[in-house]
Amino acid sequence: MNKSLQKHDIDEIIDGLSQPEKTISPKYFYDERGSQLFEEITTLPEYYPTETELGIMRDNIVEIADLVGPQASLIEFGSGSSLKTRILLEHLHELAVYVPVDISEELLIESAHQLRQDFPNIDIIPVVADFTRPFALPNPPVMPLRNIVYFPGSTIGNFIHDTALDLLKVMYEEAGEDGALLIGVDLQKDPEIIEAAYNDSTGVTAEFNLNMLRHLNREFGTDFNVKAFSHSAEYNENEGRIELRLVSSEEQDISVGDEEFTIEEDEAILTEYSHKYTLRGFAEMAHQAGFEVERVWTDADALFSVQYCVRK
Ligand code: TRP
Repeated sequence: MNKSLQKHDIDEIIDGLSQPEKTISPKYFYDERGSQLFEEITTLPEYYPTETELGIMRDNIVEIADLVGPQASLIEFGSGSSLKTRILLEHLHELAVYVPVDISEELLIESAHQLRQDFPNIDIIPVVADFTRPFALPNPPVMPLRNIVYFPGSTIGNFIHDTALDLLKVMYEEAGEDGALLIGVDLQKDPEIIEAAYNDSTGVTAEFNLNMLRHLNREFGTDFNVKAFSHSAEYNENEGRIELRLVSSEEQDISVGDEEFTIEEDEAILTEYSHKYTLRGFAEMAHQAGFEVERVWTDADALFSVQYCVRK
C-alpha cells in the first residue's frame, strides 16, 4: 500500500484508540476475508434484515415501479450488485441510467461488469466517490425525468444521528428537484430478535468482528493478541442500537505506528453501531433533511421497512 495512505490510516487508528472509549472504525472490517464473512452474515437464518428487505421489495415492486415512474435515473449509494438492486433493474420502467456510487473502484468495476452482462440494455455509469460528501452526477445519454437515490441494507443505521442526518442531506441534494429517496430502514423490535441477529449461533458475526484485528495486524503492523479478544453485541435500549465491541480477556500493550496503548483486562473496543428506528423516529430525521416520507412498506411482522421519501 501507498505509504502516505497507510500513514493516514495509522493516524486514524491512533485517534480512535485515544478516545475515552477505545474505538476502531468499521471501515477496517472490509479486507477480502471481511467482505466474504459479511456476505455470509447476510445469509444466516438469525440475520433477518437481508431476507426481510428482499421480501418487501419483491412483494411491492409493482407499486414501487409505479411511484418511481418512467425514465428515472437510479443512483445507488454503495456499489450494489445485490438481489435488491436487480429487482429494481428488472422492474423500473424505461430506466434512463443506473449510477452505482462507491469509494472502492475495484468493487464498482466488478459489480458493473456483472450487471452489464445481465442487463445489456441498461446504461450503467459507475461513479467513484465518497458518498458522505456531495459529488457530481454523470450526464446520461437519455435525459432522466427524476433521480431516485437508493440506499438499501439499513446502512443508514451504521451512522450516529448527526452523521446520518448529514448523509440524508447529501441524498436530498443528489435527488434534486422532483427526486426521491428509496431507503431500507431496520425497525425497533423485541431486543432478543435483534441480539440474536448479531450473535448468530455459528459464530460468523464474531469471526467478522475479530477479523478486523487480524486485518490491522497484517496491513498496519499492529500487534493485537487476537486470541484474547471476544465478540460482544448488545442492544442498547435507550439509544435503540446494537453496539458491537471486541473485549480483551487480558491486559495487553499494543503498538500502532509510534504510539503505545494499554488495553486493560475486560476492556472493550467499540467497532460499530447499528441503529434501529421507530417509524416516527426515522420520519423526523428524514424531515430534518428536507424529505417527507410518502410511503412505507414493511413485512407482516414489522421487522424491517422500505421507505419512499420525496422532497418537501
Ligand atoms: N447495515 C447492516 C446492519 O447494521 C449490515 C451491517 C453492517 C452489519 N455492519 C455490520 C451486520 C456488522 C452485522 C455486523 O445490520
